[in-house]
Order: sequence, then structure tokens, then C-alpha cells
Amino acid sequence: MNYSRREILRYAGLSGAGLLLPSSCARPESRILPSLAPLPEPFQIPLPAIPVLKPVRTDPDADYYDVTVRPANARILSGLDTAIWGYDGIFPGPTIEARTGRRVSLRLRNALSVPIVNHLHGGRTAPESDGYPTDLILPIGGFPHSHMHDPMARIAEGEREYVYANDQRAATLWYHDHRMDFTAPQVWRGLAGLYILRDAEEQRLPLPRADKEIPLVICDRSFDRDGSFRYPSLDPSLRDTPGVDPRYMGGALGDVILVNGAPWPRLQVAGVKYRFRILNASNARRYELQLDPLPRGATSFVQIGSDGGLLEAPVSHQALRIVPAERFDVIVDFSKFPVGSKVTLRNNADSGPAGQIMRFDVVRAERDESSIPSKLSDVAFPRPEDAVTTRVFDFSYQRSTHSWFINGKPYDPTRMDARPKLDTTEIWRLQTDFNHPLHLHLVHFQVLSHSGRPGPYDAGWKDTVDLGPGQTANILVRFAGYRGRYVFHCHNLEHEDMSMMGNYEVV
Ligand code: C2O
Ligand code: CU
Repeated sequence: MNYSRREILRYAGLSGAGLLLPSSCARPESRILPSLAPLPEPFQIPLPAIPVLKPVRTDPDADYYDVTVRPANARILSGLDTAIWGYDGIFPGPTIEARTGRRVSLRLRNALSVPIVNHLHGGRTAPESDGYPTDLILPIGGFPHSHMHDPMARIAEGEREYVYANDQRAATLWYHDHRMDFTAPQVWRGLAGLYILRDAEEQRLPLPRADKEIPLVICDRSFDRDGSFRYPSLDPSLRDTPGVDPRYMGGALGDVILVNGAPWPRLQVAGVKYRFRILNASNARRYELQLDPLPRGATSFVQIGSDGGLLEAPVSHQALRIVPAERFDVIVDFSKFPVGSKVTLRNNADSGPAGQIMRFDVVRAERDESSIPSKLSDVAFPRPEDAVTTRVFDFSYQRSTHSWFINGKPYDPTRMDARPKLDTTEIWRLQTDFNHPLHLHLVHFQVLSHSGRPGPYDAGWKDTVDLGPGQTANILVRFAGYRGRYVFHCHNLEHEDMSMMGNYEVV
């Protein structure tokens, strides 16, 4: 990585961003990268169950995991191998099942040819395990020396142990790569997986469980003629030059929708309630999910949880907008559909092949022991009047440099943008020029206002909030857990890599 930030910006300019971007458009939109392989037929493949990772050892207060990140082949399209990068060689990565109050130690070995970083998204994690973008794990075989101009970088050779305290309530978290400047292509190649944190409060509820509790990891990908993932990297080796073909700097969209790694799968269900933990693991794609057909008077989803765990009370949604990195924990009641129904999970946000996600086939009736309590949890938000300060962050496209900035500045590991005090509450006022899913590490927050009142998808504890063009949101954040350096950024991964990231330090 022998380049400086200024060189990247110059490179982006020289490579013709100005010429390739339609001049009428102020900001680059996300755009579809068409597959060159034939698209698979929808609803042919059963929804895969993502394997749960097994600890290599346990003791009274911790589970220990050893994972090797390595290249592998996946069978995603029929008749073609897809070369992926995977945690233990699988995509999505194996699910880590954790319990509140019980530590997880994750030892990652890097058998790729490039550095990696691991971040537990939604985790309240000590800074040395949080996966700061320059805290690289270099490949086992070494890597030509990198100068990222970050004197604080903690570089590990070959492997690193991440410790997750799980000192937080039950929630659907996920882990993914976070290497500075290369997060988008590395996640696209397969470096993402689920981390399900459970606790006693949630366990006591009569919600659907066991085979009626199913994670749905949704992401889009494009495929090359040979079956490999197609992605517009300037340097496909991902060794030196970051960035994408300037036409995709608004975000790369795939034309194939994968759920748990399978294209447009189907799932046979009984006519009872199911709990789906939905994660949008896409780089840039936003979805609006809806069931089709929907019987008269039925709702698609009853939301019971958000990024940060259970809501206080369930919320019904006809349609559910979910942006990159968000999680929605929902109940779908298939007793509303006659046995024999084929129910499509549609994506109203796209009209092409990506307009559908998967299909549920209601194949039998069954007795339903589960129910949705009207009160789910006690949620103790901080009080807005306790906020000690308000900080304003503007997320905008910077025309002159063809990149994405926060408060007019590109990401720089050596600049601190905010120094909140430990155990204090602040209001952060986030404003955007365009669609930006905004995420803070370490904390969960409450959306106080979202260009007016909190929006329909803002309920509960959030760690990622979606802002549309020209919107402003006030979020209430309590900085608790650890002192140290963390990032906040746009979770459109192309925006993130092209510098829409900032630092804060809890002091
Ligand atoms: Cu999902 Cu900075 O991360
Ligand atoms: Cu963005």
C-alpha cells in the first residue's frame, strides 16, 4: 500500500472520473454491475442453513474460536464455481452464537494474500479488538511493507485474537472485514457473517424458536462469465491501489440477490409464526421488503427487534426498508396464508431481477405454540435533556476530489473528529446530501428526529441509521463501555472506502 491519500485522490481524477460521470449529475448514484454469467432461475434452491461455528474449547466464562480466513470455491450458480474469500472458507461466514455475560475469543488467521481486519458490527468492544481499519492482520506469508500514515496502527503478523466481552443485551450482530480502503471489495468477496447474541430476558419470551427462528442474510452480487464475483476494483489483486471504476463510486449493485449465500432461494414453511433475523449485508443496495400476495387485512411483518435487540413493543410493517448493515428482527405469521400458498418476498425498491428476494412455500398446517407478547422488553433510553453537547456532521460528495467526505474532509486515521467523555450523553446531528446509511462503532443510539419525527424504521436501539437526500437526523448517544479510538462512517461500503469515515475518541 505505497500510496498516500492525496495520491489516491489524484489517481481517481486522472482515471477519468470527470469524463465518465454524467456531467448533469452532481453526485454519482449507485449502479448495477451486470452479471456476465447467465442469471440463475429464481426459487429453485432451498434456503441454506448457515453453519454455526464450534468452539475449539470452552471454560466457565468464555468460548474460544479459531478461524482461518482463506480462499475457497463456493457452488452458488449451477455448474460454475465461484472463487470466494471466506471465514473458514465459507460464505456467508459461520454464525457465532454467543451469550450475554460470556466472553468470546476469536482467533483469526489470515491465509489470504492481502491484509484483513475484523469488526463485530453492533458489538460493544474494547478498542484493541474493535477492528480499527488500520489494525491489520497481515497475511501469514507476509506483506510488502505498508505505510498507511497511522502511527497508532496495531499491526499483527498472520493472526490476531479478538476478544468480545458480550457485555450487552441480546441482539443480532454481524462481523465483517474492515481493512482501510478495501472493505468494499473484501466484503463483496465473502468476508461477512452473523453473530447472534442471546440473553435470559429474550429466552423467556414465547417467541418462535428452534427451526422457526431463521436468519436471512441478504446481499447482492454480480457474476463474471467464469462464475467468479464481478466487482469494479481498479486493482483486482487488492494489494496496492484502492478504489473502483469511477462509475461505481456511488455504490456497486449486483443483479443477483443471495439469501444465506444462495440466489433467490425458497423455503418450505408450516402455517405458523416464524422469526426471521434479517441482515442487509449488501455493499450499497437498499431494499424495501414486502410479502406478495398478502391476504386482506394481513401485515407482512411484525417487528420485534432492531440493530440493538428487542423493541419495547412490537411494530407492524406492511413493507420494510432495510439499508446496508441494518438488522430487523421480525415475525411472519404464515397461518394467514392457505396451505399451498407460494409467497414471494419482494423488493419494491427495484423492478428488475433484484425486485425479488426469495419465496416461502406454505406446505403444511401445524399447531403454533408461539406468541408475540405485547410487551417485549424494558428499554431504558437516556434522556435528551442529559445531552452535554450537540455535534454536527455533514456527509456529502466532494466534487473537486470525486470522493465522499464528512464535514468537508476525507478519512484520515491521524485526525480526531470528536472527543466525547466516557459515560456522557451527546446529540449528534447527522445531515446528508444523498442516501447514506450512517454507523457508529461501540455504541447504540436512539433516533430522536429524522427530518421531523423518527421514521417508521427507527424504533428501538440502532447502530445504523438511514438518511435520504437532504435529510437530517438527531441521534441520542451514550458513550459507555470503553475509552479509546473508534470510527463512524457511511455503511455504503463504496462510500466508506472512498473516505466517508471519521474518528472519535472516548476520553
Ligand atoms: Cu459494519 Cu464500521 O462497520
Ligand atoms: Cu454514503
